[in-house]
Amino acid sequence: MGIMKIQRPRGTADMLPDEARRWHFVEDVIRQVAMLYNYREIRTPIFESTDLFIKSEGESTDIVSKQMYTFKDRAGRSLTLRPEMTPNVIRAYLEHSLNQKEKLIKLYYVGPIFRYEKPQAGRYRQHHQFGIEAIGSAEPALDAEVVEMIMYLYHKLGLTGLKAIINSVGCRKCRPAYNALLKNYLGTKMRELCADCRRRAEANPLRVFDCKEPLCSAALCQAPRVCDNLCDACRDHFRTFRALLEESGIDYQVTPELVRGLDYYTRTAFEIVSEDLGAQNAVGGGGRYDDLIESLGGPPTPAIGFGTGLERILMVMEERGVAVADEGALSVYLVAWEKEGMDAGRKLLRSLRRGGVSADMDYRMSSLKSQLRRADRLGAPFILLLGKDERARGTAKLRNMKTGDEREIALDGATESIRQLTGSRG
Ligand code: HAM
Repeated sequence: MGIMKIQRPRGTADMLPDEARRWHFVEDVIRQVAMLYNYREIRTPIFESTDLFIKSEGESTDIVSKQMYTFKDRAGRSLTLRPEMTPNVIRAYLEHSLNQKEKLIKLYYVGPIFRYEKPQAGRYRQHHQFGIEAIGSAEPALDAEVVEMIMYLYHKLGLTGLKAIINSVGCRKCRPAYNALLKNYLGTKMRELCADCRRRAEANPLRVFDCKEPLCSAALCQAPRVCDNLCDACRDHFRTFRALLEESGIDYQVTPELVRGLDYYTRTAFEIVSEDLGAQNAVGGGGRYDDLIESLGGPPTPAIGFGTGLERILMVMEERGVAVADEGALSVYLVAWEKEGMDAGRKLLRSLRRGGVSADMDYRMSSLKSQLRRADRLGAPFILLLGKDERARGTAKLRNMKTGDEREIALDGATESIRQLTGSRG
């Protein structure tokens, strides 16, 4: 029997060094845009009490009923790898009484998210999200700002071919009447619905809109629409939100079936969809959740946010041919031979690095030819040759790999000369 090769878990990915600069580019733009809109970073644990997600997202959502990575720790507590970040941020917000510092708190996060989903293009069991949560304001101007921000982020990343779809899912005042209306309608369609949807029709009718079964979608064609059944306050909010989107020049489309798969949403729901992504076409999505904080034990506090998948952003960048500038790589490769050369090399290497110059060398004392080949492969713009004759003169030879120029520099003060030549900041 051969040795079994261990592979990464299904639905996960390794980020290899060649892809790092694309990730870094995306993360840099994210942090820059977060700063521009006055969001500050928050980091919370990767796992939380399972109850947090059940309470926040709702028992009949796909995430809670099918997709959570839930496990018992050694003391028997039920924990769950975070399937999103909104409940976690609210948990931390309440735990640290962040509301007492300021009325409107704007937080952002970047990190891994876990959902047990069927893997396919653009859908993973571990993905990474950038998200924001603006906690403490019910103003529709904030809803418009949040959508503007996500669109501006995509613009800065060079993404095109995107569309904003929006809806209003009402509030706890108008939802019960709508639910009754929808339940009534679904009662006439029971035979066309899948087993899941029949259950949803009873327990949580709005969730039937999450179903991907073609027969269920067809049965919903004539269903009453939530955005046509809003109370006056929700209708006003939706109208102002749309007017402000128009004012910011954002194209949008009202999509009455958009309900966003989580129970906590109230009023505004939105998604940004891409022409390039196929079935998993949402690059980002979010909405308002004016009751969540209260339902987790806090004071009534309106809030809104979005999440956007980094993998999906990178996929659209790829499709759209967005080029990313090279990161500052290795500046100098030291080529040394004989024990004395190696000794001098190690000393210089340390001094270069402390001086802010990215440098490396081969400790194996391999042949000159193989060291030069390695320098070439690494693409260092300069190589420094620590040859015997030069060493005797207290110098080394610096070769500019682009121009082929060679010059002798004093070992004393070599770091300073190289810093100037490579423009290292240090
Ligand atoms: P979500 O729509 O479930 O919302 O996820 C947000 C984004 O994460 C999606 O638009 C997509 O880009 C990415 N995403 C989700 N699942 C996967 C997956 N399996 N593989 C790859 N990418 C994925 C939320 O999570 C809410 N917490 C957003 C929010 C914040 N609402 C209010 N505040």
